[in-house]
Amino acid sequence: MYRIGQPESKRVETLLESGEIFRYGKAGECDQFEADWGKRLGDVQVRMTTSGTAALYCALIGLKVGPGDSVIVPSCTYMATALAVVAAGAMPIIAEVDESITLSPEDVERKIAPHTKAIIPVHMWGLPCNMDALMDIAEKRGVKVLEDACQAVGGGYKGRELGSIGHAGAFSFNYFKNMTSGEGGAFVSADESVFRRGSVAADCCSYYWNPDEHRPDEQFAGLNFRATEISGAILNAQLERIDEMLDRMRGHKRTLTKVGEDAGLTSITNNCLDCECGTHVGFIFDSEKNARAFAKRISELKGRAFLPIDTGRHVYTRWDPIMRKQGAHHPALDPFNLPQNKALNIEYSMDMCPESLDILSRAVLIGMHPDNDREKIDELADAIRESAHVVNSPHAQPTTK
Ligand SMILES: Cc1ncc(COP(=O)(O)O)c(C=O)c1O
Repeated sequence: MYRIGQPESKRVETLLESGEIFRYGKAGECDQFEADWGKRLGDVQVRMTTSGTAALYCALIGLKVGPGDSVIVPSCTYMATALAVVAAGAMPIIAEVDESITLSPEDVERKIAPHTKAIIPVHMWGLPCNMDALMDIAEKRGVKVLEDACQAVGGGYKGRELGSIGHAGAFSFNYFKNMTSGEGGAFVSADESVFRRGSVAADCCSYYWNPDEHRPDEQFAGLNFRATEISGAILNAQLERIDEMLDRMRGHKRTLTKVGEDAGLTSITNNCLDCECGTHVGFIFDSEKNARAFAKRISELKGRAFLPIDTGRHVYTRWDPIMRKQGAHHPALDPFNLPQNKALNIEYSMDMCPESLDILSRAVLIGMHPDNDREKIDELADAIRESAHVVNSPHAQPTTK
């Protein structure tokens, strides 16, 4: 879902010629990206990491999440969201998604417990969560919010940047994301202490490279998820492209959403159609049969359509290490075995989120691409109109073009 080309090659070439490829060397590519990304998000501090998973983990450590805490995650997200919670020593609680295919505020209200330390709204497939409702609940119940914006880099919600609304945010820059350096990530926070603790988790020697961060009482054993200058250089070039690219896809999404609705289809709930990433157009059907018929016909007509339920590790039923409670490489280190966590009595079962399984089986997402031109959008519009015909649904009236 990204664009890449000469600007990235040139920037990396210049960097390689300088020989300054260490993160804390003279080239300053990562420093620049962290400063620019932070400015864009609105004065948060940014720490680049090696991946989105590492970014989530570091942010959780920053938020002081650990054994004896639970963290609410949605039933539909890449399993790294839940695994990061376990890596931090805490227990994920899996909550329903609603018809926006993002975390259901109602289910968060139901499932939030005295031991809940944080919730992780995930802006899945570039679709923003209902952040107003989730932030209200978090404030009322005294829990922290970590936005997983790994799939929503550059997207917004009611005029604010995704990842900057909660107490911390995490981004992925892997190959499939809106901005990419092949692999990579970053966590952000406006809270100095969250940022510093997360930075220790991200780089066991962070205070050595950043003397300002030298506070011996706040040190603990971290690892190394340090980003490379090569990633920094690529991302600095990617940052120049993101707005034009997302604006384009948002425009395409608005057009195709209207085409579908005019053809009698029901859109998934869009929490902020104007600001989101526009990477996926979504419709919801009254039955799985109709959703499958629609997706099949779109695919035959050259669109890229899929049902979220079919996306493997994005649905909780396929998060094997969580469902089997295999939380670490060694039983003594396994958070599922810790007495503080056992006392929380958190259990998982395949049918624990029935509303999600129903919604994810009735929704269809159509992938957008920044290189789609007018002709391709017209083709997709025709495909949506035609596919609406094959759906035997009260929502889908036959249409004439
Ligand atoms: C929602 C979500 N969270 C977290 C991640 C983890 O990111 P990474 O693959 O960079 O570790 C991903 C990546 O696919 C993701 O989609």
